[in-house]
Amino acid sequence: MDDLKRMRDFYDSRKKNTWSIFNCYPYWLDCKQTRTLTNILKLSNLEKSTFLDIGAGEGNFLCKMLSLGIQYKNITAIEYLEDRYKKLIGKLPHIKSINDDFLKVKLEGTYDIVTLMAVLTSVTDNEIRYAIFDKALNSISSNGMLILYDYFDNSEKFLNDDYRTLSLTKIEELAKKYHIEVYKNVYIKSRYAKGLCKLKLQSLIPLLESLKIFNDTYHFVVIKNAK
Ligand SMILES: C[S@@+](CC[C@H](N)C(=O)[O-])C[C@H]1O[C@@H](n2cnc3c(N)ncnc32)[C@H](O)[C@@H]1O
Repeated sequence: MDDLKRMRDFYDSRKKNTWSIFNCYPYWLDCKQTRTLTNILKLSNLEKSTFLDIGAGEGNFLCKMLSLGIQYKNITAIEYLEDRYKKLIGKLPHIKSINDDFLKVKLEGTYDIVTLMAVLTSVTDNEIRYAIFDKALNSISSNGMLILYDYFDNSEKFLNDDYRTLSLTKIEELAKKYHIEVYKNVYIKSRYAKGLCKLKLQSLIPLLESLKIFNDTYHFVVIKNAK
């Protein structure tokens, strides 16, 4: 698949965005994501929940889920790119992990929590990414949920060669038999956040973010089997 090959080149060439005392933005974003996730998962029994992370990358999001209470033995991670997969198993050798294209993987059952974190925008072929979404939907258990975190825009415009926005209307249409909650425009635009962090004015971020007008269209979308 051309899309997957292009992704490999992208991750090989990408600069790391790690936090330091001169750049608190990645740290701040990480804390924010944790807060939103804690809210989404507040009614779940995380110690017992089975968890499938599709497009797990190097395992950063899995580490966050472990810190929230998910158990190693209940985790299955799927990552297509070999280099990223090697880093993932180096970090988390005790989880069940699969190095393959999710669309080719035969799953053993369904899962209580399924996540697609920033995966669908990185697959620019619409046919493939909505097929991934559809298979992910079919992977949730009767009481389960699928959590998407991504950059949305109904035009499905290309942000660059490697990223394409996701249509919320299309997602809602494909999941119309499910119960959907959207946590809209959750984060301030990164250029504002980075600027404020550099000026040591990060304490203003929550206030500006609550106004929503400076925020990006990053949404968390939670999709549950309708009872
Ligand atoms: C932007 S990264 C996000 C990684 C991780 N979810 C996170 O939040 O840190 C997207 C990941 O999805 C993986 N991916 C994309 N399509 C895939 C597929 N069909 N099967 C498995 N992994 C896939 C890519 O290789 C990449 O590592």
